[in-house]
Amino acid sequence: MVAMQLEPIGPNIWVTNGTDIKFMGLLLGTRSTIVRLSDGGMWMHSPVSYNSDLAAEVEDLGPVRFLVAPNVYHHFFLKEWQDHYPDAELIGPRDLPAKRPDLIFSALFDDRRCDPWSSEIDRVVFEGSRAFDEHVFFHRASRTAILTDLIVNVRLDKQTTLGRLIAHIEGVAYPNGRTPLLYRLGMQDRAAGAKAVAAILEWGATQAVISHGEWFREHATQELRKRFAWLPL
Ligand SMILES: [Fe+2]
Repeated sequence: MVAMQLEPIGPNIWVTNGTDIKFMGLLLGTRSTIVRLSDGGMWMHSPVSYNSDLAAEVEDLGPVRFLVAPNVYHHFFLKEWQDHYPDAELIGPRDLPAKRPDLIFSALFDDRRCDPWSSEIDRVVFEGSRAFDEHVFFHRASRTAILTDLIVNVRLDKQTTLGRLIAHIEGVAYPNGRTPLLYRLGMQDRAAGAKAVAAILEWGATQAVISHGEWFREHATQELRKRFAWLPL
């Protein structure tokens, strides 16, 4: 019996942890959030590395309909999923096609028809630093906010000595991980970021998934407010 890779976290929503990646001296886990839409199609946020067992688990739940790239950094595994599911629609940020001309996008965020799932999943774009713009989602039925890199919360036990130091400097060490220092320093328009976070808090999420590190299984709105306190909320 192979261990299941999808963990159910609410009605029609699952998370799966992928392979670890090395980024700026840190060992980061990866995580994808997967939603079954009311028509039965599967919506995959920031797909983790492809493996056939995971794909079979997703397919058991429904056909893969959407592959979602939330920012210009989470594109490493899109190609392998697109190759396996050429009929799935890939939707991502405006600047990603230039970076990844090998990917085929069916729409870009801010196009007129970029949220075909809008009756079930809301989206807010966190702006203020062009380099770090991120599209944040909210699955209404499960009250789940879905963030990518805006908050990082990594356990230190797997890090090297240098990694632990970097995690502390970046402010991303569990349990107090928040927005990486690099992002905070790159923020040109804090008011725009604060406006986006206000809209995110307005959702009243009870849980919040992040892509790297421990996510927030309860009290998500309070946790998010605390971890975005560097902005003028
Ligand atoms: Fe990331």
